[in-house]
Amino acid sequence: MESPFKADILKGKVALLTGGASGIGYEISLQLGKHGACIAVMGRRKHVIDSAVETLQSQGIHAIGLEGDVRKRDDAARVLESTVKHFGRLDILVNAAAGNFLVPSEDLSPNGFRTVIDIDAVGTFTMCHEALKYLKKGASGKDSSVGGTIINISATLHYTATWYQIHVSAAKAAVDSLTRSLALEWGTDYDIRVNGIAPGPIEDTAGFSKLLPQEILSKLKEQTLVSKVGQKWDIAMAALYLVSNAGYHSNSLLEV
Ligand code: HXC
Repeated sequence: MESPFKADILKGKVALLTGGASGIGYEISLQLGKHGACIAVMGRRKHVIDSAVETLQSQGIHAIGLEGDVRKRDDAARVLESTVKHFGRLDILVNAAAGNFLVPSEDLSPNGFRTVIDIDAVGTFTMCHEALKYLKKGASGKDSSVGGTIINISATLHYTATWYQIHVSAAKAAVDSLTRSLALEWGTDYDIRVNGIAPGPIEDTAGFSKLLPQEILSKLKEQTLVSKVGQKWDIAMAALYLVSNAGYHSNSLLEV
């Protein structure tokens, strides 16, 4: 599909994406890159990052891959420092890294619960916290008048109750909450825009195939008036809108 945005709307910008090598994160990497941004992709699995970077580069995108786990503060600091060292600045942070599995609450150990909270919620906060100094207006390599921007990817699981997703629901509720708090504090103090995107079921992602067995998917399609579900493209376009000047006054939460 052809983008409705001009190809150079992010020219000169630098973006770091956690979980940016697969699923929704990869599609955001691709679309930000296609619209002019330099892309740094952070992830735990080297072969997945290498393959994503190769594909991005083959499309003429300036991209690098950086191995790291958002649960480790040292990794977060190192990856951010390497991104700024390589590209000279940081304008956009997208937190798309997430952990997930279907499990009834009674079978989920407290450590399993904590693991997902650590990746999704604490990891998102850690990345934001470590990125702050680079996103402030006037930070190294940036023009002095504009702060950077952050996108946190959450979900809609926690709006009601979702079977076998107690850990992820709690984690994503925390992500939405910290998005609002950072939008308030950093938007006011530093002109940094912090937005969240809360995707519903998105076709052709790990979350979709792992969490939506075929019988639930058929019901979902029956219940959806237009008989179709969201695509990674929709989320990437929402992200593009929010990080570009089109979304210049946006600051808080967008539900898709
Ligand atoms: C029950 C499980 C489990 C499972 C892990 N645990 N998998 N419990 N069922 N299937 C428990 C373990 O027993 C352990 O607790 C604890 O979690 C940590 O497990 P580890 O394997 O040591 O953790 P780690 O290697 O760090 O892996 C974490 C992970 C991750 C969360 C399992 O590897 C993962 O899920 N990766 C997939 C990423 C993914 O699918 N991303 C897409 C997300 S989609 P004990 O007590 O035994 O020590 C998404 C969309 C949401 O987020 C919205 C969709 C609509």
